[in-house]
Amino acid sequence: MSEFAGKHGLIVGVANKRSIAWAIARAVAAKGARLAVTYQGERLEDSVRELSADLADPLVLPLDVTSDEQIAEVAARCDQTFGGLDFVVHGAAFAPREELARPFLETSRDGFRVALDISAYSLVALARATAPLMEKNGGGSLLTLTYLGSERVFPNYNVMGVAKAALESSVRYLAAELGPRAIRVNAISAGPIKTLAASGISGFSSILQVYRDKAPLRRNTETGEVADAAAFLLGPAGRGVTGEILIVDGGYSIVGL
Ligand SMILES: NC(=O)c1ccc[n+]([C@@H]2O[C@H](COP(=O)([O-])OP(=O)(O)OC[C@H]3O[C@@H](n4cnc5c(N)ncnc54)[C@H](O)[C@@H]3O)[C@@H](O)[C@H]2O)c1
Repeated sequence: MSEFAGKHGLIVGVANKRSIAWAIARAVAAKGARLAVTYQGERLEDSVRELSADLADPLVLPLDVTSDEQIAEVAARCDQTFGGLDFVVHGAAFAPREELARPFLETSRDGFRVALDISAYSLVALARATAPLMEKNGGGSLLTLTYLGSERVFPNYNVMGVAKAALESSVRYLAAELGPRAIRVNAISAGPIKTLAASGISGFSSILQVYRDKAPLRRNTETGEVADAAAFLLGPAGRGVTGEILIVDGGYSIVGL
């Protein structure tokens, strides 16, 4: 199980041990990858450093994706330390809490801007900064995380659904442009999982229950399942796949009623 031996990856979006990005980091590290892991601000530094201590010789760096300077710094550090990148995981998303509690019609201009900037534009900025590093390694794979709220209406998901629609469209535009440089761009659309980000969505527990009741697999999605699908898309087994939104949700999305 060493399909990532000698490979270098950048993981953005780890907050704590429940983070989907952390499950992905563990899965690819177990298959031999060496990783750079970022944390958003000092508040999360200790938690991310503590988790990363389990990884082999990790690079742990600060990154707020709203800052082009910090994105450039992370790319430069990966370049200096690893000499290039083979894959990048983008697991950052945010919308102001009040936008996920009041009616979508009341979405503020600023809340809309912040949600789209952090949750969608950041993929474009990260792709631009890291594409040259992946090109150096002969190509690479960029992966982001999305949710079915991009195309269907879920209670209180609101502006985050709009941001995920922009994110998924960005995956396709980036895949088209970066394909000739042997860089693949994909997303995993995960079923709901209790994480820090999910705790901002009012009524999240009842959404989990609906999935348990209705999904063909009759259970909730686990981070490990998303991580295994991520390893497929990031590694050699996924070499023919780009511009894809792979749904990992126990089958919920196929059910009509
Ligand atoms: N949990 C779910 O139910 C679920 C389902 C489908 C998709 N997703 C997506 O998975 C991804 C990871 O979320 P998660 O559920 O693991 O929660 P999480 O809270 O563990 O991860 C979200 C991450 O985004 C980071 N982030 C927010 N603002 C940032 C900024 N300005 N700069 C840098 N990082 C920033 C946070 O630090 C955190 O690490 C998100 O894109 C989320 O929308 C989650």
